[in-house]
Amino acid sequence: MTHPAGMQRTLSIVKPDGVRKGVVGEVIRRFETSGIRVVGMRMLRLTKTEAEGFYAVHRERPFFGSLTEFMSSGPIVAMVLEGENVIARNRLLMGATDPKKADRGTIRADLADNVEQNIVHGSDAPETAETEIDYFFSKLDIIS
Ligand code: RTP
Ligand code: MG
Repeated sequence: MTHPAGMQRTLSIVKPDGVRKGVVGEVIRRFETSGIRVVGMRMLRLTKTEAEGFYAVHRERPFFGSLTEFMSSGPIVAMVLEGENVIARNRLLMGATDPKKADRGTIRADLADNVEQNIVHGSDAPETAETEIDYFFSKLDIIS
């Protein structure tokens, strides 16, 4: 499949805190308002093992146990986002990992409680975006 230069896909997740707070719509609104297209979406609840698989890069970090408990504590909404340079644009909309350090107007600064329960996940590079999209979505689940 050919795409215009700069066109990318990324994985976004509204984490369990975002679903509990009822801000799924607010997060999607921010994507739509900034011209990012949602081309795949599903709600699911990860098992602890599935959360450990998803965040395997962090398995040596001190927060790994707590993070994977949290990520499997309730339903999440996983989305495939598409747009020009969307990996970086989504990270800008999300803000810094720690909401106290995030710029005002970002999702995390506006909606998150703390560095762990920070409402959203977003892939950080083309390679991780591809792996993470494949973790949740079959090709047939993504609008082309
Ligand atoms: P994400 O992967 O979820 O999009 O977040 P990120 O790139 O901004 O942050 P990353 O360093 O990849 O960390 C992944 C998630 O682990 C939790 N975390 N807790 N307790 C802590 O110090 C700590 N640091 C990170 C957060 O949920 C973070 O989003
Ligand atoms: Mg990350």
